[in-house]
Amino acid sequence: MNRFHTPVLLKEVLGFLRVKRGARYIDATLGGGGHSKKILELGGIVLGIDQDEDAIKYVKNQKSKIKNRDNLILALGNFKNINEIAHLKGFDRVSAVLFDLGVSSYQLENPQRGFSYQKEGPLDMRMDRRLGVKAADLLSILTKRELYELFSKLGEEHNAWVISENIVRARGIKPIKTTEDLVLLIGETLGEKGRVSALLRRLIAKRVFQALRIAVNDELNNLKEALPEVYSLLDKKGRLIVISYHSLEDRIVKNTFKNFKLKGMGIIVTKKPVVADMEEIKENKRSKSAKLRVFEKV
Ligand SMILES: C[S@@+](CC[C@H](N)C(=O)[O-])C[C@H]1O[C@@H](n2cnc3c(N)ncnc32)[C@H](O)[C@@H]1O
Repeated sequence: MNRFHTPVLLKEVLGFLRVKRGARYIDATLGGGGHSKKILELGGIVLGIDQDEDAIKYVKNQKSKIKNRDNLILALGNFKNINEIAHLKGFDRVSAVLFDLGVSSYQLENPQRGFSYQKEGPLDMRMDRRLGVKAADLLSILTKRELYELFSKLGEEHNAWVISENIVRARGIKPIKTTEDLVLLIGETLGEKGRVSALLRRLIAKRVFQALRIAVNDELNNLKEALPEVYSLLDKKGRLIVISYHSLEDRIVKNTFKNFKLKGMGIIVTKKPVVADMEEIKENKRSKSAKLRVFEKV
């Protein structure tokens, strides 16, 4: 177990990567470095990118414990700029690029980051703390309609309209600044709608928080921009491997791969998304929603 984050679908990812000694790989979402460390152990050279300073710092501090650590190059940045970052670090052509999307356990568990409805803290949710807009800012500036669109599209939440109405009403009295403010408000909203089980309340809070996180970090656009960029970095037979945790992300990956295939750019290795087995789900709840897709360049 890694305190920072337990890598998801690790053996499956390694199977698809087919790491060769001395070959180059990009881990576009370094996190706690769980996937990267294994690639290094197998003799690969890795460029690890993350937009969260804490992830880069964590892996830097762990370096003394990492096998073949001299083959690990770290870069703080957004993977939507993957080409620029890769060229700058001398990774012009690589054998594979891995994306393991979403947030790390560290980010979720750290109350100060404001990602979790279960931890009290400021409503921040920025992975890159140089970004200007926090979740609390979205709750104070978006219109009722915009909030509704956000919760219904990104959160796929049926109660999006009443929740948005109550946010707009509540912020007229006092700004919504903390995770607790928002959780209480969601609870009150659902209370007005009659009896809603505690389990459903948690699920709804989770969806609302996830929608805000995706919006704050512009996650879907980052992915849409990054995937086509990656193509030019891949060697012949190079692989693009993506693990997603949200249906909209998975749709972007699936459609991008289909388009690549239609244009004769390569083959889709995974006809259906690969998912975690029961054993992994038992060990690591996070793996339950993971979907892994692989594309191979011609
Ligand atoms: C699920 S974690 C990755 C975990 C990693 N595979 C491991 O095994 O430790 C996702 C990481 O991607 C980073 N991330 C998400 N979107 C990003 C983006 N657009 N650019 C760079 N890093 C991003 C997050 O900050 C987070 O650290």
